[in-house]
Amino acid sequence: MRIALITGASSGIGKWFALYTACYRKHIDELWLVARSKRNLKTVGEKITCHTGIPCRVVSADLTSKEDMFYIEQLLIRQDPEIDLLINCAGYGMIGSFKKMPPRDLRGMIRLNCEALTVLTKLCIPYMHRGSMMINVASAAAFLPQSDFAVYAATKSYVLSLSRAIGKELKKLGIRVVTVCPGCINTPFFTRAEQYQGMKPFKKFFMANPRAVVRQAMMDAAAGKRMSIYGGTIRVLYWIAKWMPDAVLRLFY
Ligand SMILES: NC(=O)c1ccc[n+]([C@@H]2O[C@H](COP(=O)([O-])OP(=O)(O)OC[C@H]3O[C@@H](n4cnc5c(N)ncnc54)[C@H](OP(=O)(O)O)[C@@H]3O)[C@@H](O)[C@H]2O)c1
Repeated sequence: MRIALITGASSGIGKWFALYTACYRKHIDELWLVARSKRNLKTVGEKITCHTGIPCRVVSADLTSKEDMFYIEQLLIRQDPEIDLLINCAGYGMIGSFKKMPPRDLRGMIRLNCEALTVLTKLCIPYMHRGSMMINVASAAAFLPQSDFAVYAATKSYVLSLSRAIGKELKKLGIRVVTVCPGCINTPFFTRAEQYQGMKPFKKFFMANPRAVVRQAMMDAAAGKRMSIYGGTIRVLYWIAKWMPDAVLRLFY
């Protein structure tokens, strides 16, 4: 059985990744949709199956929980699927000063964005084969440090660095790794992110449409690119962060 496993599929861009996967990777037999909210996953799954005919399996799991990760590991052992596509999309960020942010939230971001992504990737690789693909959702926040978003930006730098490195290792096995680095996207992400502090107002002008970000990512992945950056502004930011000395970069973060 060939599957696509998508985390964070209950909402935001993960939901769109699931739909686009079902529409454009026709050889997939089943989509495994992972997130905590069983109800939202069921709704997303039913819509996808109704529109594309591809069955969806709801895997309700908190990826920061050892027990739930063990459950996914056992599910993989029992079902022994071929993972054609793994999309690591689950993640969150909290805006606010490092000094004021409760340790619980700092730890939460690190555990979901870094630890869970790493462990799930490790669990899935044995089920991937030549031609399989992994899409890891990082962020433009990975390009440079961000004051008042410090831990989130650092976790996304981790995702970008990890993805590049394992992309090189897995190339020998014929498995491709694509990192998606979008700027601000109009999703429920900000409901949680702005709990302590609002986002910088100028960022609201650069809010992207989630569907457009996912379409671009899927096109870039199909074209064999290793990184997907949506929009001219974010592409300029990427080059600035790559080439400018830190003394200049500090003006941006
Ligand atoms: N929105 C942006 O501006 C933006 C920009 C760049 C990158 N990103 C990245 O894009 C990804 C998706 O974010 P989004 O914008 O689509 O936000 P979102 O709508 O809040 O989606 C986050 C997803 O992660 C899942 N999730 C959260 N905690 C989880 C946990 N402990 N275990 C399992 N699943 C969990 C959520 O589902 P449940 O709540 O049901 O668990 C949801 O499906 C994230 O990695 C984010 O960092 C977002």
